[in-house]
Amino acid sequence: MTVAPTIHFASDNYASVHPEVMEAMAAANVAHDSAYGADAFTARFDEAIAATFGDHALGYPVFNGTGANIVSLMALSPRWGGVVASEHAHIHNDENGAPERVGGLKLLTLPSPDGRLTPDQLDRYAGDLGDPHRAQPLVLSLTQATEMGTVYGLAEMRAMADAAHALGMRVHVDGARIANAAAALGVGLAEACAGADVLSLGGTKNGAMLGEAVVILNPELRDSLAHDLPYLRKQTMQLGSKMRYVSVQLDALLTSTDAQGTPLWRRNAGHANAMAARLRAALAPLADAGRLAFTQETQANALFATLPRAAADAVRARYRFYDWQPGSRPGDVEVRWMCAWDTTAEDVDAFAAALTTALEAR
Ligand SMILES: Cc1ncc(COP(=O)(O)O)c(C=O)c1O
Repeated sequence: MTVAPTIHFASDNYASVHPEVMEAMAAANVAHDSAYGADAFTARFDEAIAATFGDHALGYPVFNGTGANIVSLMALSPRWGGVVASEHAHIHNDENGAPERVGGLKLLTLPSPDGRLTPDQLDRYAGDLGDPHRAQPLVLSLTQATEMGTVYGLAEMRAMADAAHALGMRVHVDGARIANAAAALGVGLAEACAGADVLSLGGTKNGAMLGEAVVILNPELRDSLAHDLPYLRKQTMQLGSKMRYVSVQLDALLTSTDAQGTPLWRRNAGHANAMAARLRAALAPLADAGRLAFTQETQANALFATLPRAAADAVRARYRFYDWQPGSRPGDVEVRWMCAWDTTAEDVDAFAAALTTALEAR
């Protein structure tokens, strides 16, 4: 008996490694090279960072997104600092307290029903500046694209950064999905986080095997951050000795182009976003009929919806996805469906058909 394979809409980190990344890793796997980043592939990655973010930018490869965030936040904040972030931020909900425990940084959260913050919300903590009894709100961390599948527009991102800087705060962007945001906005990676001081540059969700980077963006902070970052990366156990295998993946995402000259990061993110849009369109009739309700806009590669739990469970034998939270009506559940670079149109159409059958049976 053959069992149909599970098809994943759980997360973009369930996806496989893009063949161009694999080829780049294989090409790097030919000989000894220097350890800890003093290798030819990390030098190429450095050039790719400068070409992508400007000559002043510096990139530091790390193993994972949590590590990129912790190293970034520790670099940006003094010991007495607090980090202002959305209540949905990965650093708040999904890093097991690492900013507090490893970084010693208190998180100061703000409500954000769609994952985005607005400049006026910074007032909530601004009054604490200068009060030694209060964690000092010295860093703002924004996620682009957000945990709720939304994207800060260019003006929104700039307004947040300007408001934070005006208060003397520094700005971090958790860019685990910066490629999806940039593809959605139709801009480059640098523009999608313009105004930020430091970026956690995502690779894993964008087609890498593993690997992200801390990127210093603000030329005025470059020298002091460049002094501290190597020590912080080592102390937080994010310094890879065979760094070239991380660097070469990120370099491939940034520089491997197709016949039209489109870099791999944009092709992968654009495809994931397009698959999410396709799923949304396929499910729109069910939403119109009141059988399910979308709970967020679909601006990048994620969809959020509420539907009867029984219908969600009916398709789980074949399709995997996360429950997000209980739905507002009894028996409902809010779920997240996420698409990746390797989600196919056939997967999307079959999933939409299975959901339609399950919902119409109820
Ligand atoms: C918004 C966001 N930031 C960071 C991460 C990085 O997580 P990890 O440490 O698992 O690579 C994730 C992964 O789910 C994420 O969704």
